[in-house]
Amino acid sequence: MIAMSYADFLSSYPNYAATENIDVIRAKEYPLLDTQDQVYLDYTGANLFAQAQVKAHMDVLQAYVFGNPHSTNPTSLQATQLVETTRRAVLDYFHASKDYYCVFTSNATQSLKIIGESYPFDHHAHFLLLFDNHNSVNGIREYARRHGASFEYAPVYMEDLRIDEKVLQQKLQAHPHKKHKLFAFPAQSNVSGVKHDLGWIAKAKQQGWDVLLDAAAYVPSSELDLSMVQPDYVSLSFYKMFGYPTGIGALLIKKTAFEKLDKPWFAGGTVSYVSVTVPEFFLVDNQERFEEGTVNFLSIPAVKIGLDWMQELNMQQVRTRLHALTDYLIQSLLSLKHQTGQPLIHVFGPHNMEARGYTIIINFFGADGEKLDLSLIEQAANQERISIRMGCFCNPGIDEINNCITSEELSLFYSSRTDTHYDKVHFLGKMRGAIRVSLGLMSNYADCEKFINFCSQFLH
Ligand SMILES: Cc1ncc(COP(=O)(O)O)c(C=O)c1O
Repeated sequence: MIAMSYADFLSSYPNYAATENIDVIRAKEYPLLDTQDQVYLDYTGANLFAQAQVKAHMDVLQAYVFGNPHSTNPTSLQATQLVETTRRAVLDYFHASKDYYCVFTSNATQSLKIIGESYPFDHHAHFLLLFDNHNSVNGIREYARRHGASFEYAPVYMEDLRIDEKVLQQKLQAHPHKKHKLFAFPAQSNVSGVKHDLGWIAKAKQQGWDVLLDAAAYVPSSELDLSMVQPDYVSLSFYKMFGYPTGIGALLIKKTAFEKLDKPWFAGGTVSYVSVTVPEFFLVDNQERFEEGTVNFLSIPAVKIGLDWMQELNMQQVRTRLHALTDYLIQSLLSLKHQTGQPLIHVFGPHNMEARGYTIIINFFGADGEKLDLSLIEQAANQERISIRMGCFCNPGIDEINNCITSEELSLFYSSRTDTHYDKVHFLGKMRGAIRVSLGLMSNYADCEKFINFCSQFLH
């Protein structure tokens, strides 16, 4: 099958027609996509930015003299004022002004590292994580391990990559005597696009857990209302939301969970008073405790510009469009069959649009049912200027489930001395990785059509 005509697409997804003004915005604000003939399908990797965002940011930089914040001199105050205005805008955007601090970090990973190094992991602590986590969350287990805390994973189902609710419930109930319990999960999988039920936040908290919500893959297209769900810690990167600037993320900390974080050191900007005559110090009593050194004060104003841009775009309309496009893409990919009747593409995770975002993970199969080499698909896509992503996406849990890698096989592998991806593939005799296709703010029908046509060239 080749992609549907636009008219057929519209008759199958009539809501899409009402979102056509986004095509106008795309042409005006993201012109390089079409003038350079790029098919961008890696929005979960990074979002794209509008020209208006860059212009607005340059206007700010050219309108004032900025000095290093943390002083009362006028240029310093100018920078401080913009940083604090942006901080308020971030908290307002997530309906978090009353209950949360916003710590500016360099990215979601740095936000997560702060939790790793400051959560009171010790022999009385336990860390529970979902199988479906980015490595920047998985890595926190090494802080837990070093400090004597126990940790374990809660599984997701192989069929739809959603939480195994019964097991998670058991695991949440299983540690009544632990003093500190941290549960970490992503609001949306960066691989399968599954949106995990945010209701687990309240359920975990009722059972004495602190909750770390990794919202990095969720907030680019979904609304996170922190007056409704109240995780203790939230991590995110702004370039994933609106493309520009890179190098800034946030850690949102619920005020009631702030003192629980035990910062292991102090640095410039984080102390209210420190002495070298006696080795004592007082940490600042607000978000600055975790903003080490000088924040990225020239780029931070662009975060407010990005948030304003998202609001101007009308995210509800963007979601309507992405819902239609993702469903169209999944159904079209599933319908591609070789002459033998063998499907060309396997879509991992849910095949419908219920509780999922706009990220799809797939593998390709030949007419004989053998998996096709992913790097060949990726190279072919590169040649057609199609940006997709191949690999494990820093989420080994989902990869191990999708490729049916057992713990016995992995233990054997890790006791061997081979350590590259290809060594692993060879050692296990099993394929690793998949191809991720992710839609976002400016995706349109033409992007999907080009990708479906690209896939059909592998049909035999
Ligand atoms: C769900 C999730 N968490 C965390 C991260 C880490 O984000 P960053 O690389 O911006 O630190 C990513 C990046 O892809 C992600 O998708």
